[in-house]
Amino acid sequence: MATERIRFAQVSDIHLMPETACRWWWMSDSPRRQLEAAVAHLNQVPDLDFVVFTGDLVDQADPESFELFREILAQLRMPYYLSLGNHDVDTLQRKGRFDREQFIRWCQSQFPLFPAPTGYVDYSLSPLPGIRLIALDASLGSFPLPQGVLRPSQLHWLGEHLQVVSEEWLILLIHQPPFISPTQMDAVVFRNYQLQKQAAAALHALLAGHGRVVAVLSGHLHVPKVHVRDGIPYLTAPPLVGPVSALRLFEVDLNPRRGILRYHWVHLPEPGPRPLWHGFLMGRRRDRWGEIPLRARGARSTLLPVAAR
Ligand SMILES: [Fe+2]
Ligand SMILES: [Fe+2]
Repeated sequence: MATERIRFAQVSDIHLMPETACRWWWMSDSPRRQLEAAVAHLNQVPDLDFVVFTGDLVDQADPESFELFREILAQLRMPYYLSLGNHDVDTLQRKGRFDREQFIRWCQSQFPLFPAPTGYVDYSLSPLPGIRLIALDASLGSFPLPQGVLRPSQLHWLGEHLQVVSEEWLILLIHQPPFISPTQMDAVVFRNYQLQKQAAAALHALLAGHGRVVAVLSGHLHVPKVHVRDGIPYLTAPPLVGPVSALRLFEVDLNPRRGILRYHWVHLPEPGPRPLWHGFLMGRRRDRWGEIPLRARGARSTLLPVAAR
């Protein structure tokens, strides 16, 4: 029987690192303490089905921080799924940092993951009947370049896969946001931190064709953002590492006629002084709480034209 209601959480941009490492100027406090606080909080939330982590799990793609992450997550009492951020992998393997292969194996040690045959950290799984979770790897890999890309092989795989799962509601994880609110300030500040325009348009066309999208969940900006395009919710998470240190909770009603996505953030304690730009980092009110109607439209062909593959 298909699932009618789900509750899940999104945690993003933890940037976990050893306590002794030098922190970036924009980190508010110990990422380790923030992650432990998040796990403790999530364990108290009633009826939470699962948790998704949308990248930048660690800061330097180093095995020690990944191991620390796994240790802390062992305390979480519900399933969780991980997607890749630009700080999680280094294809040049400098200083023994994780490459994609190592990242996939590390994920597989925590939950069943069957990678897509794209050569990137893309996968699809069904956490609940009728729900499809797809993670896409949009990172460049040359650590830690911020812009996001999707390659033709990834778009082609996604297009074909969406046809196979056409009856399922989709939650898509992609670290670099395809779209954010189009204000002038955002356009200037986040110019180089989004998914490349052409890739975002191709992804959106596939999702619009699928017609059953719960949400596209991103991180990377370290500022919460909500943008709805053609009925598809694109949500960018606040960072856990702060400031502002927060996570998102979602409640979804999948009734095909009056489906709704409700979201709100949970602000965790942030020791230390607040930067002057703290208000900007909180986003607008609707970036923090709100609800978005969901419509199950009839799925149509999601195959890309041959030229775009
Ligand atoms: Fe980040
Ligand atoms: Fe990032």
